[in-house]
Amino acid sequence: MNYFGLSFVICVGFGLVAAGGQEQKPIKAVAVIGLGRAQGNVTLTQSACNEPCHIEISLVGLTPNQKHGFHIHDKGDLSGGCLSTAGHYNPDKMSHGAPNAQIRHVGDLGNIQADANGECHTIISDSLVSLFGSRSVIGRGVVVHAGEDDLGLTDHPDSLTTGNAGARIGCGVIGIAESIAELPVCNSASSTTYNLLISIALILLAKLFH
Ligand SMILES: *[C@@H]1O[C@H](CO)[C@@H](O)[C@H](O)[C@H]1NC(C)=O
Repeated sequence: MNYFGLSFVICVGFGLVAAGGQEQKPIKAVAVIGLGRAQGNVTLTQSACNEPCHIEISLVGLTPNQKHGFHIHDKGDLSGGCLSTAGHYNPDKMSHGAPNAQIRHVGDLGNIQADANGECHTIISDSLVSLFGSRSVIGRGVVVHAGEDDLGLTDHPDSLTTGNAGARIGCGVIGIAESIAELPVCNSASSTTYNLLISIALILLAKLFH
């Protein structure tokens, strides 16, 4: 390879690595739950696009020792109370299911368990819920239901849409909690795939200038 070829390859290589290896900043978001007897905070954090979203739940006003359906709903609209958040966030038009099921809404987070004081303090991790990219749940709703979500497993007529979780006893809107200048996009290719493609491109370029 001549001198020009070598420097060209190095420049292109550095350019590609700079574009692809761009570090994603973690995103933190919060939904303050109210408009009903369930009150508290739901804090969502995610370190990168392909990482799970951690959802820290701190709620009071639940029914002691009972399970409550807990979902991300389509809209962040509280103008008509919790009902305005519409149905579960479901971009893939799937049936309702458990958080660990193959078939589920993105917003299907199952149930949270209230303690003897009607409180719940827990953290769940979910791989479908994302704060990044075009499916970011920022701006959507969080709803706590009066009853238990049947996870799509009963023959109740609403089982495959709402899990028959009953009335909405608290809700909030997921908002940005830590300053970010721009909402990051998600690269469809993972960084591993990207790095592999860069390597192949570099080898081809090196051959070209040999
Ligand atoms: C929600 O967050 C606020 C502010 O940090 C705090 O005062 C309040 O106690 C929290 N509520 C619950 C139920 O954790």
